[in-house]
Amino acid sequence: MTKINSIAVLTSGGDAPGMNAAIRAVVRAGIFNKMKVFGVMRGYEGLISGNFKEMVSRDVSNIIQTGGTILKTARSKEFHEIEGRKKAYNKLKRAGIDALIVIGGDGTLRGARQFTNEFNIPVIGMPGTIDNDLWGTDYTIGYDTALNTVVEAVDKIRDTAASHNRLFFVEVMGRDAGFLALRSGIACGAEAILIPEKETHLDQLKSYLEKGKKKRKSSSIIIVAEGDDAGGAFEIAKKVKKDFSDYSIRVSILGHIQRGGRPSAFDRVMASRLGVAAVDALLDDQKSIMVGMQNREIVHVPFNKTIKYHKGINDSLLVTADILTI
Ligand code: F6P
Repeated sequence: MTKINSIAVLTSGGDAPGMNAAIRAVVRAGIFNKMKVFGVMRGYEGLISGNFKEMVSRDVSNIIQTGGTILKTARSKEFHEIEGRKKAYNKLKRAGIDALIVIGGDGTLRGARQFTNEFNIPVIGMPGTIDNDLWGTDYTIGYDTALNTVVEAVDKIRDTAASHNRLFFVEVMGRDAGFLALRSGIACGAEAILIPEKETHLDQLKSYLEKGKKKRKSSSIIIVAEGDDAGGAFEIAKKVKKDFSDYSIRVSILGHIQRGGRPSAFDRVMASRLGVAAVDALLDDQKSIMVGMQNREIVHVPFNKTIKYHKGINDSLLVTADILTI
């Protein structure tokens, strides 16, 4: 077993609410276990340029409640190249850092797996993305907060939809996954939810709208996942408008408000638990895993698996949504 005296932590990819809570947990758990902890600025970019700073407990005071990431984040092209990763490894070695904890999504964990395979340095991943699309963990840090942000925004849009008798297409983030769209759609009582995991049949949507018209439904909210196969919300709205020219249609793209804001209690607690678990995993001699949460318990998921497997949508949520949108 290799003794780990010094670790580094970074955030990479899109920021997600709760990343600060995760950094705080890693820093404090590391110090608690008598390690030196370095913060790496701007994700893998900072690893390559050697932009590290040793952190003390006070450096992470008062951040558990804040959105964004104090370490900043980036999507590094250079880290995709072996030369970039070699530079990063040399910078870590020069600083006497024995292991790395990375917080981010799919791309971040792919980079982590490659790095640990090539240079045999222990790397532990923590799932941090609003998309919730990582296999092996029920939830990712940031997802719950983003979900609540979407719900709050759509509730407000519904006030306008109802007051003006309008049909709204609301586009939510999630890249090529529909987790955010499906749950927010159920939570907002959306009349239809369009997600990439389920083929979108515009005819079906149109016949639903037809039925709504007959029932004198005066307003509707359709949630569209940004990765939906029928195109984005603007595209779908345009196609629908052709057949429903008398409808007053509006499109709302929620955009980056979904990534910001104070993390929910759920995200703060999960980030805190996963941060402590990530440091524990290093002490347990783990080298190439993501710490995740399954059935409310901490799990270790090999990078190979979380990267290889595709996380599926919970079918029972689809059934619930279908039943409730009659
Ligand atoms: O992965 C998080 C995410 O917000 C996705 O939902 C979205 O597709 C993407 O990042 C947007 O990335 P950017 O902030 O680089 O435009």
